[in-house]
Amino acid sequence: MAEQEWAALQELARAPGAGEIRPLFAADPERAARFTWQADGLRLDLAKTSLSSAVLEALLALARARDVAGQRAAMASGARINGTENRAVLHMALRAPPGSFRTGEEDASAEVAEVLAAMQAFTGRVHAAGRFTDVLNIGIGGSDLGPQMAVRALHRHDSPMRAHWLSAADGHAWDALRRQLDPARTLVLVASKTFTTAETMSNAHLVRDWLRAALGAAGDAQLVALSTNLQATSAFGVPADQVFGFRDWVGGRFSLWSAVGLSIALSCGWDAFAQLLAGARAMDEHFLAAPDAENLPLLLALVDLWHLDGLGLSNRAVLPYDERLARFPAHLQQVEMESLGKSVTTAGAPVGRATGGVVFGEPGNNAQHSFMQLLHQGTTPVPADIVLVARPGHAFPDSHRLLLANGLAQAEALLRGRDAAEVRAEMQAAGKPEAEIERLLPHRLFPGNRPSTAILLPELSPFTLGQLVALYEHKVFCLGALWGVNAFDQWGVELGKQLAGALLPELSGQPEPAKHDGSTAALLAEIRRLWPGP
Ligand code: F6P
Repeated sequence: MAEQEWAALQELARAPGAGEIRPLFAADPERAARFTWQADGLRLDLAKTSLSSAVLEALLALARARDVAGQRAAMASGARINGTENRAVLHMALRAPPGSFRTGEEDASAEVAEVLAAMQAFTGRVHAAGRFTDVLNIGIGGSDLGPQMAVRALHRHDSPMRAHWLSAADGHAWDALRRQLDPARTLVLVASKTFTTAETMSNAHLVRDWLRAALGAAGDAQLVALSTNLQATSAFGVPADQVFGFRDWVGGRFSLWSAVGLSIALSCGWDAFAQLLAGARAMDEHFLAAPDAENLPLLLALVDLWHLDGLGLSNRAVLPYDERLARFPAHLQQVEMESLGKSVTTAGAPVGRATGGVVFGEPGNNAQHSFMQLLHQGTTPVPADIVLVARPGHAFPDSHRLLLANGLAQAEALLRGRDAAEVRAEMQAAGKPEAEIERLLPHRLFPGNRPSTAILLPELSPFTLGQLVALYEHKVFCLGALWGVNAFDQWGVELGKQLAGALLPELSGQPEPAKHDGSTAALLAEIRRLWPGP
């Protein structure tokens, strides 16, 4: 498991000043250029982290020792690298031309091309008919977050259809939505890889009942399914020509490029969806071909690993300076935490070091007025990924300048900090009495040397969004390979699902609850007292 390389990294992390950044700038006037990389116009700047040349070398040595390149080749070859589910991992095939990726004897990309052609034809028919103004996507996790994030980013005032989302088993959401939607003008997509997810099927039944109540049996003609489980979709009543399939080699959190992305195509237009795939494909090509020292997904993974395993920083903020990317942090939460929240290696042994950290985030400008205080002055540094978009998609340049100034300033403030001399000088210039200066001084200090990563997109287009999302997908792959964990299963979600299944009858009046811990039993009893249910 590359113990020598891990040890070398630990030694660098223990060296005095290991987490400091300002001295690195002072020592190297070329630092910004040397720690910035590009791929097809997407710029990754790691200069404002504590990566030194020595640390980067040690990280790259670890990547070699862990054979990340070999593991990447195995993924691309269609090998069943998701060992606990005995599956290949081929989301790259979803955005590649026929002949690019195979699973065993099958040309995975050729099958994808067929589904894409069917999706395109269907999208064209729906738009040409003009009957449907709204598309409702019912799905959860990867069958919701990815498409919802993309639609939020790409939808424009003149896009062909409005999109709506039903995910949690929360009747409040449906109660509100059904009042806005006209059943005759709403196309309903049931997005579920398995077509068994309890929340999705519960919502799908509610919506199917609504369609049938308004339109009779004809209501079923407005159902569309996006799934790998074709038996279940037909049992549910979805017309066969409105089922768009994909395969088990597409993980849910990597599925927005598959049939699961139909909501993107319908609401934003086919060209937008095609360009999204093209952007992801461009990042795939970069990831597969670029040498380690210039490989953006690998570099992003290495800086994460340095923060987490070297410096012990286990939280990371994702701060897009663009409202259109408001759901990007939520999407990344699933992509990163469902993939990397693992404690055992692929061989089942304890992993022995910190793996996936906590990811959280908000559009950056809003975050400044809520949680950024903690990043600037809290006790533990929290690395931040700051996503900037150079050209706006609107005609209000002053507003965009203000937004960008804020994004740049946050990163600058995290790095620079503010020392006592600066605070004193500023307060003296403002005419504050010495006693007040001394009293407030500790509160107004900023430690600085706090890391941030900048990603700069020239504009937010379907293509650049595809690049951005694929960059993080591949980063997750690299981290899984470096730690030796399976980034593509998610057994940790199962226990809660099973226990919820057992609790369900107890909430609908089963007299004697089964065995629970005292707290759960008391809560259940109190809920049953407060809400006996209909
Ligand atoms: O519960 C977790 C999960 O399995 C995710 O991995 C997945 O994206 C989500 O549920 C939805 O699953 P499905 O698409 O099968 O409904």
